[in-house]
Amino acid sequence: TKKAVLGPLVGAVDQGTSSTRFLVFNSKTAELLSHHQVEIKQEFPREGWVEQDPREILQSVYECIEKTCEKLGQLNIDISNIKAIGVSNQRETTVVWDKLTGEPLYNAVVWLDLRTQSTVENLSKRIPGNNNFVKSKTGLPLSTYFSAVKLRWLLDNVRKVQKAVEENRALFGTIDSWLIWSLTGGVSGGVHCTDVTNASRTMLFNIHSLEWDKELCEFFGIPMEILPNVRSSSEIYGLMKAGALEGVPISGCLGDQSAALVGQMCFQDGQAKNTYGTGCFLLCNTGRKCVFSEHGLLTTVAYKLGRDKPVYYALEGSVAIAGAVIRWLRDNLGIIKTSEEIEKLAKEVGTSYGCYFVPAFSGLYAPYWEPSARGIICGLTQFTNKCHIAFAALEAVCFQTREILDAMNRDCGIPLSHLQVDGGMTSNKILMQLQADILYIPVVKPSMPETTALGAAMAAGAAEGVGVWSLEPEDLSAVTMERFEPQINAEESEIRYSTWKKAVMKSVGWVT
Ligand code: G3P
Repeated sequence: TKKAVLGPLVGAVDQGTSSTRFLVFNSKTAELLSHHQVEIKQEFPREGWVEQDPREILQSVYECIEKTCEKLGQLNIDISNIKAIGVSNQRETTVVWDKLTGEPLYNAVVWLDLRTQSTVENLSKRIPGNNNFVKSKTGLPLSTYFSAVKLRWLLDNVRKVQKAVEENRALFGTIDSWLIWSLTGGVSGGVHCTDVTNASRTMLFNIHSLEWDKELCEFFGIPMEILPNVRSSSEIYGLMKAGALEGVPISGCLGDQSAALVGQMCFQDGQAKNTYGTGCFLLCNTGRKCVFSEHGLLTTVAYKLGRDKPVYYALEGSVAIAGAVIRWLRDNLGIIKTSEEIEKLAKEVGTSYGCYFVPAFSGLYAPYWEPSARGIICGLTQFTNKCHIAFAALEAVCFQTREILDAMNRDCGIPLSHLQVDGGMTSNKILMQLQADILYIPVVKPSMPETTALGAAMAAGAAEGVGVWSLEPEDLSAVTMERFEPQINAEESEIRYSTWKKAVMKSVGWVT
């Protein structure tokens, strides 16, 4: 059979906390042609610890690429049309590996991991100058969330890491760096780099000068020679060294939340998106200026789409647990067998019947930044059943989004008139309707929810030397939107929200 004739194609790796995907898009229409997804294991060796195996992550990327190429073959699409690959990834997750053997020296310490709580407490006692030392340079609060303290823990506690640093064999990276280094050849010439968006999540990167910050590295005790080179989000970093796509340039790299901002075409000041993955992250483009929040939000690099292009910043509201609460109901409580079943359970009751679920498994992130919080389910009666708990879990995701939207509106001054959403959970219609009810503004979702991968593909396709994707808004004119309007009255929405806040207060202070 004849191969289908198409324009240039672009692939994207989307390496999230829960799964890895590889997706291939038509660069002219942004149409998703094929993809493959593999779930990633999470290990919880101790209370509060979260680890993943970097080799499994890398293997999953290869597997997704191979399987997607096979599927394209079955569709008669020639994979030699794939002109570039973009990488988007879970941010902050920290890997140290040996550049001579290619072996990771410890598991990846995942962004959700809480083992560095005492490190953070100790460091915060000796912040030089004023309390703004870290925040004014990085846009971030000193927290277990970011890479610097995870790396500090590895340097303090893992002999193999210490030895590799002494012998000048150690490389540090977030997942993007680990993947790009490995995919471009690893021990035989792999490129050790990261992009400005991922670098901005390490707590070692100065978001004004766009360089690793010497003072911060000294403060955290990080040897600068193990850090990757920082590049823009859209340029050729290197070529695929093996597999079905050998020789294809890797030319886009963005932390997943920045990638989603690009994929949702939020290029204007004031445009925002909310992505529902393992966590939930609302980013609002603030243009070429850094805006510092008064209400618990982060300042982060949004993107820099080319070596000579300007950098754009965003305000971010980060929620640690969104999709992860569904996974917890599946894996820890066993009240559902698949994540999709949550919608069926919630639909059976259509209310939480006064039950509130605060999933503060990793403390509370924005806007509270409260590491002492832990998860609670409250408001239980003898009438409460698993359907109500399922409903309360979905509501929790929406309430947490409402909290960050309120903070965003206060920081920006102009309230958002609607919320653009994306990510796996947005296929859950109950969740989307609840979100519109709780925010009391319309929620708008693109028909193609894989905007994270799309953003990485756009960056890769637009890179100098690739040039198969133009970043004009018309490119996505074919994308249709689904809209959810608030359906309850405003008073009811407020009552539910204020009860949620009461529940949040009860979750704080469990760990001292
Ligand atoms: O900051 C963590 C974030 O990048 C993780 O994203 O999609 O795995 O929830 P996700």
